[in-house]
Amino acid sequence: MKVLMVCLGNICRSPLAEGILQYKSDEQKLNWEIDSAGTGGWHSGEPPHKKAQKIARLHGVNISPLKARQFIKEDMQRFDKIYVMDSDNYNEVKRIAGDLWDERKVDLILNESNPGSNASVPDPWYENTDDAFETTFQLLNEACEKFLNKIKK
Ligand code: 4NP
Repeated sequence: MKVLMVCLGNICRSPLAEGILQYKSDEQKLNWEIDSAGTGGWHSGEPPHKKAQKIARLHGVNISPLKARQFIKEDMQRFDKIYVMDSDNYNEVKRIAGDLWDERKVDLILNESNPGSNASVPDPWYENTDDAFETTFQLLNEACEKFLNKIKK
């Protein structure tokens, strides 16, 4: 299984989602390929946000080695499943993918924990507090857990 997590900057939400799913798949010895990307390229090459690194570490997940990159249209072919954090990400992935767009592969990640809700993962970048990063971590953790259990069956 190859899974790509996508947000705007690839420094807050999607690296957390990548780290969480990687941790869970390693725990289950699943040998999945997991990556993340941003629809924007402003932070390319940067490690995750300091507070994202900190919250992940508090939960035993090490995302410090990750480096931001921008989503490219070829990602559409390379991955089996692409999870976006909000509807802006969804529309941007669709725009960048162009003729390679495959609707069946792309979904909002919180539809795994709350099917049909089309809910967004709150972006902790704006609030910039430990609490905001923790809330985001918990939402992503639940969604990743549900997804993994569904696929394992
Ligand atoms: P992310 O958060 O999409 O969860 O990585 C953001 C990171 C950077 C910016 C916005 C959101 N920015 O405006 O630079």
